[in-house]
Amino acid sequence: MAAIETRDLRKTYVSNKKSPGIKGGIRSLFSREKTTVEAVCGIDLKIEQGELVGFLGPNGAGKTTTLKMLSGILYPTSGYSNVLGYTPSDRKPDMLRRISLVMGNKMQLWWDLPAWDSFIVLKEMYEVDDTRFKKRVDLLIDALQLSDKVNTQVRKLSLGERMKCELVAALLHSPEIVFLDEPTIGLDVVSQKRIRDFLKDLHAEDNCTVLLTSHYMQDVQELCDRVIVIDHGRVIFEGTLDTLTKEFSDVRRVRLTFSTPVVASDLEKYGTIIGDVSETAVIEVARADTASATGAMLQYLPVSDVGIEEIEVEEVIRRLFSEGR
Ligand SMILES: Nc1ncnc2c1ncn2[C@@H]1O[C@H](COP(=O)(O)OP(=O)(O)OP(=O)(O)O)[C@@H](O)[C@H]1O
Ligand SMILES: [Mg+2]
Repeated sequence: MAAIETRDLRKTYVSNKKSPGIKGGIRSLFSREKTTVEAVCGIDLKIEQGELVGFLGPNGAGKTTTLKMLSGILYPTSGYSNVLGYTPSDRKPDMLRRISLVMGNKMQLWWDLPAWDSFIVLKEMYEVDDTRFKKRVDLLIDALQLSDKVNTQVRKLSLGERMKCELVAALLHSPEIVFLDEPTIGLDVVSQKRIRDFLKDLHAEDNCTVLLTSHYMQDVQELCDRVIVIDHGRVIFEGTLDTLTKEFSDVRRVRLTFSTPVVASDLEKYGTIIGDVSETAVIEVARADTASATGAMLQYLPVSDVGIEEIEVEEVIRRLFSEGR
């Protein structure tokens, strides 16, 4: 059985229509006019136990909504969902003990308490026995280098330290499925790297199933075996990151520097021009034609320097969205 499976999962948010201003606000209390947002419009997922899957998409695509439905926080409007054999919206304690949701932009720890106190409360909530708790908490604190931070009030920690404490809290009960909603958001590059390395080790050690959203391609590139891309509440791509890059970018970029400025018309025949042309230019060439096109440009144009680049994954995904596939 797959660890996570959904079929035609949907969520429509319905709220009262509100006109601007105080009067509008009051009127909306009595009005029956509703606005609806179709946040998730029929998503089919199948994630096997032990997979680490990237769940990607632009702002507002429906990622958080989906994760909330899968972790039982939000009731779906319709559709089938199954997490470890449970229907998430039933919120069975047995299921909740086996999953976890971490949200990078929403703290779950008590702000005024040291993280340690929250850990103890969570230990009781999840009924983790003393020996297991001790072993697990030591392991997590050690892996995240947090030992001198857990006794400080959470409000006094840096964003990165807080995020690490959030991770400890979310992983104390050794969940089999971990939903990570932008766990590295807003962090500096060093903290991001630490968290990525930690997640990589955790996944290897626990063999847990992870569904991760992130806007940082580095996270996806380093962590995910497979990606699912959604847009406007629908799946628009599913496969490995390699396939994604290959399918959508069978091109390379040639970056040129000239000894005397050139004009666009000198370059058009070799490929698609990206940006301005003068002393430097970037043109996009089909992967298969890279050598011949570059050779021709070196021969016929005053090229003083040339470099060939792969297109970045971020850009591939951006194109995927703008093409509206
Ligand atoms: N509580 C809510 N009430 C009404 N609309 C909502 C609510 N929460 C989210 N939405 C809308 O549902 C859509 C999907 O939102 P969601 O938060 O799932 O996107 P997301 O993919 O997580 O985006 P981001 O990358 O910005 O986090 C958006 O159009 C959003 O405005
Ligand atoms: Mg989100």
